[in-house]
Amino acid sequence: MRDVSQWLVGLGLDEYAALFDEHKIDFEALAELDGSDLKELGIPLGHRKKILKAIAGLDAPQAPAGVAASGEAERRQVTIMFCDLVGSTELSAELDPEDLRALINEYQDACRAAVAEYDGFVARYMGDGVLAYFGYPKSHENDAERAVLAALSLLESLQALNQRSTRRADSALAARVGIATGLVVVGDLIGEGASRESPVVGETPNIAARLQSVAEPDTVVIAQSTYQLTGRTFECRALGTQALKGVAEPVQAWQVTGTRSVESRFEAARHVGLTPLVGREEELTLLLNRWKRARDGDGRVVLITGEAGIGKSRLTEELRRSVAAEPHVRIGYQCLAHYQNSAFHPVIAELERTAGIDHRHAPAEKLDLLETLLSRSADANDEDLALFADLLSIPNDRHFPDAHLEPAQRKEKTLSALVRRLESLAAATPVLFIFEDVHWIDPSTLELLERIVERAATLPLLVAVTSRPGFEAAWTGQPNTSLISLSRIDRRQSRALVDRIAEHTGLPESVLADIVAKADGIPLFIEELTRTLLESERDTTGSSLDVPATLQDSLMSRLDRLTVGKPVAQVASALGREFTHELLSAVCEEPPGKIELALDELDASGLVQRRGTGSQASCVFKHALIQDVAYQSLLRSARQALHRRIASVLCEEFTDTAELQPEVVARHFTEGGETEQAISYWQRAGDRAAARAAHAEAIGHYSRGLDLLGDMEDAERRATAEVDFNLGLAASMRVVERWDDALQALDRAESVARSHDRPAKLAEVHYLKGNLYFPLGRFEDCLHEHEQSRDIARRAGLLEKEARALGGLGDAYYQRGRMITAERHFDSCGENLSGARFRASRSRVPGDERHRTILRAAIRRMHRRRNEQCGACAQDSQPAGRGGRDPGHMLLGYGHGQVRRGIRGQSEIDGTVSTPRIRKPGRLRPGSPRQAADRDGAARRGSSRAQGSLRECKKIGIDFRRSDDSRIPRSLHRRPRRTRASLARRRADARDEQPQPQLFAILPIRH
Ligand SMILES: Nc1ncnc2c1ncn2[C@@H]1O[C@H](COP(=O)(O)OP(=O)(O)OP(=O)(O)O)[C@@H](O)[C@H]1O
Ligand SMILES: [Mg+2]
Repeated sequence: MRDVSQWLVGLGLDEYAALFDEHKIDFEALAELDGSDLKELGIPLGHRKKILKAIAGLDAPQAPAGVAASGEAERRQVTIMFCDLVGSTELSAELDPEDLRALINEYQDACRAAVAEYDGFVARYMGDGVLAYFGYPKSHENDAERAVLAALSLLESLQALNQRSTRRADSALAARVGIATGLVVVGDLIGEGASRESPVVGETPNIAARLQSVAEPDTVVIAQSTYQLTGRTFECRALGTQALKGVAEPVQAWQVTGTRSVESRFEAARHVGLTPLVGREEELTLLLNRWKRARDGDGRVVLITGEAGIGKSRLTEELRRSVAAEPHVRIGYQCLAHYQNSAFHPVIAELERTAGIDHRHAPAEKLDLLETLLSRSADANDEDLALFADLLSIPNDRHFPDAHLEPAQRKEKTLSALVRRLESLAAATPVLFIFEDVHWIDPSTLELLERIVERAATLPLLVAVTSRPGFEAAWTGQPNTSLISLSRIDRRQSRALVDRIAEHTGLPESVLADIVAKADGIPLFIEELTRTLLESERDTTGSSLDVPATLQDSLMSRLDRLTVGKPVAQVASALGREFTHELLSAVCEEPPGKIELALDELDASGLVQRRGTGSQASCVFKHALIQDVAYQSLLRSARQALHRRIASVLCEEFTDTAELQPEVVARHFTEGGETEQAISYWQRAGDRAAARAAHAEAIGHYSRGLDLLGDMEDAERRATAEVDFNLGLAASMRVVERWDDALQALDRAESVARSHDRPAKLAEVHYLKGNLYFPLGRFEDCLHEHEQSRDIARRAGLLEKEARALGGLGDAYYQRGRMITAERHFDSCGENLSGARFRASRSRVPGDERHRTILRAAIRRMHRRRNEQCGACAQDSQPAGRGGRDPGHMLLGYGHGQVRRGIRGQSEIDGTVSTPRIRKPGRLRPGSPRQAADRDGAARRGSSRAQGSLRECKKIGIDFRRSDDSRIPRSLHRRPRRTRASLARRRADARDEQPQPQLFAILPIRH
């Protein structure tokens, strides 16, 4: 109601909020209101007009062009029932056409009634065949079960018709029914005028029709897909696999022979055994304590609430098991969604189950069984028996005193008899009363529940009531009642649950983490995701998790319940699990007010959680699986259009996001089928991640780009991209020490660069190969590659590339102990980068790169005690180092700069280089230029490299001494007035971190 109130506030008519609330007018009802309704509510004319105008504009927000909105075509799971009249050809030969018409009408009426009873939809009459959908246009969480129940109900009504009919036995009505469940496309209207219909397209209708032809007269045959969804609700006989005409794979078929008598949905849902309980210790302890009190006559009621699949029934099951060994009687009432309007349905089901009555018994046998049951309760009398027989629709031909009571009187007496039965059972032994799913309770059973709660306080009785959120009980505040509100299980418990389900299958860590992340702590989701994965034939190493068929209906029904929110949820699902109001509005091209309204509804329904207000709000789908279902319900073409739109909105209106998160744009272009754009953004994303030392991410981005290259038409551009992606991959793989993969990537890059004559790229490939061979200790190969790089670069006049190769050669020669040759190469490298040739070439070598190459030369010189040369080199490197983004090299430059100063007898710290500031990553001043570097962990590396540089200096006899704190100029501290004690504390803190960036200053050098 909150959202309708807000809507009224938006119209400036908040004075009616309470009135609408009082009359339970939600958005669904709002759309149906007309002038006379408003008049009846006492709203004056002017306001009536205003409200009606606003209602007219209350159509669902439009999804962007090409994206399905509610009512348009959708992909979804539907259960399809196909039934056909048996022997219609013979009947048409035998019967007068008018009689035949009447017969077919009766049959069709029976079909319509049975389908309507379970909220299905008759899509088409085809001669004497009837096609019905369950799950479209309206979905429920148990559509497969509803379809089978409708089929059984249809066969029952045909039998009843035959019994009543005066027709000859050989012209009796009989039908065959086939049922199948599967993913279909629904909703595209086809045809003209009256013959316009919305067909279901897919294999499922065909399977249902073919199974119908396999069925014997008066039987129902269901496909494996439906069988799996209905769990143990029905008795079924396996018919083996059937090769069906027009269906690719043989289908396992089952004949439904009846409904199974089960105590609860929980029991019915189980094909496999129970997973051992995870967590819930506190809740179970509370229940057991209440049971102990109840056993002693101090009756208790506990309401267990929580969202679907959270474990309410599992908890009551655990209670049941814990007390199983104690003497007691258990009564189980199960409320069901499809019997919300059937008075006393849970009571009837319990009586029949406990008495052992089923449809095969004759009325007299049923009465006997009922009598036996009631004889167990001491107070039962003949009137009770008559009332219960009436409740169970058993003809009472034994002349029990069936007083001809008014309905209200009959109900009152029935309620009293039911309470009396409970009292008399409780008088003999404690009673555990489990009342499941009272959010679906029918009004009569609710009255009974209220009476039981009232009576409970003085009986040895524990009533455990389960409910999803939304059930409001008047009695929850009473002294003998308690509330257990179940929350989601935590990550550790979720993992334990996956482990227990998967037993010793040894699911890979990444899959386990995926399940835990997707399931959001809902045990049902964990179970279904894990089981689906284990049962599927796909390998379990890295497949993405699809929404299990067992969850499709229930998740979809939650979306279908929305009025204005569904199309918006569909658009949002393409944005991701988290999205902003602002981006959503931009993509939907709708006024913010409409989006706001839709988000209100999504928020109120618990599907989306919103933080903040207005266009600044950020939203998150509460369940990853709801997002998946919303997304998967979009047609593929609609999804593509939507992603294209999102990508272009990001590029045009959200340039910061596009700049900072190119991978987001890349993903949308990829899903939108815009290959060229996607490739370009994957490249950007990879480069950006690599520059921030996020190499694992960079590898992922480059790989996604590579995957798309096959769709790129222009051969030259494709070649460029292929080389660049492979170079990027190799560089990042080298850092994470995936040597073989890196070499393979370079082989691929080399072959393309060679065949497309790209010398610069080829020089780069060889240089990188040289760099890979170096750490592998393959110095001959390393030299060979750098030589190739140098030669190619030289021939093409690429000074920078040549310099890099020379640097590489210098390193390799040095490592081989060929100092003079190494130095020669370093000299050439230095010349290349500093000399006139270089300046003339106007090469735009990035500062870092140049700096790095020079520094390598400097270090080698230092080793050889060429201190003056080293100093000169380092000096040359310093400005580039400072301007560069790599703190490690900057520190290195700093260290060497100090070496030079030391040699000249100068001292100390160069305050302009903020080495000591990088003493403790994570405590950097916000906004400092090194903050970004720190995020990547570069500061740590930089600091340790600087220390390495100090060690190098020491090796050649230049002594640096750690400062004591007092010697560090105050200007270098972040907070000038820090005390010695606080510095000591900080040092102690720093020691606890591994690796430890050190606090140091370089002090005068002692020779
Ligand atoms: N703590 C738990 N440990 C192990 N399994 C659990 C736990 N909680 C729930 N499950 C399992 O998760 C599934 C869903 O639980 P359950 O049926 O109890 O949910 P529910 O809250 O009763 O849902 P609904 O509202 O649909 O009735 C069941 O198969 C159950 O065995
Ligand atoms: Mg339950």
